[in-house]
Amino acid sequence: MKRYFIAGNWKMYKTVPEAVSLASELKARLSDCGEKLMIAPPFTALQAVAGVIKGTNILLGAQNMGPEESGAHTGEVSVLMLKDLGVSVVILGHSERRHTYGESDALINIKVRLALKHKLEVILCVGETLEEREQGVLEKVIRRQLSEGLKGVEPSALTDVTVAYEPVWAIGTGKTATPEDADAVHEFCRKVIAELYGQNAAKQLLIQYGGSVKPDNVAALMAKQNIDGALVGGASLKADTFVPIAKFR
Ligand code: PGA
Repeated sequence: MKRYFIAGNWKMYKTVPEAVSLASELKARLSDCGEKLMIAPPFTALQAVAGVIKGTNILLGAQNMGPEESGAHTGEVSVLMLKDLGVSVVILGHSERRHTYGESDALINIKVRLALKHKLEVILCVGETLEEREQGVLEKVIRRQLSEGLKGVEPSALTDVTVAYEPVWAIGTGKTATPEDADAVHEFCRKVIAELYGQNAAKQLLIQYGGSVKPDNVAALMAKQNIDGALVGGASLKADTFVPIAKFR
């Protein structure tokens, strides 16, 4: 049976006590959930949340990382520091990093390769803006983000990569892609991966959907053939919304 990958991105929310409290509630309420689970608190709460979820079925994720192992990089957090705290997954190329902080495909690619080198799993986010969709360049954008983002990634390392398709216009807006629209883009992602890595790798790749996933739309999205999980923002901030998403079936 298909096992879904349900991930929560807490973004710039939650103080340490708030994060501990949410993680504790998730730990209790998701202990019987059979899906692959991850939560990504802000950097400041990683250590405390690590203590709560250690040894459980919930993986610790980070929302970003610096492009170097160490050095004079004011304000950045290194892959080694993340590993030191028990982080096992890192979200890279989130649209907020791309669009608000100007991260390029080339920079994201450096981070992807560095994370994989240190055996962190990567969630590589891709997605078009509304303008790009309306201009008919959706496929061009997705193809570029995937091929540039994965440049130099060995086929053997691809098993540590999950792709998250997050249409920018659906993030935090309450607008979700219809399951059919999302599935079509997921299918296209798989086609690009097949061109880059072969059919087998493309078949095995997990592709999450992200963008206003909620308890009432998750099941219809997950029912689609090419959708293998969800990257959840707003609805991951409360156990009462994240638990039903993780337990959608
Ligand atoms: P959202 O965010 O669920 O609040 O739309 C998704 C994301 O940014 O990963």
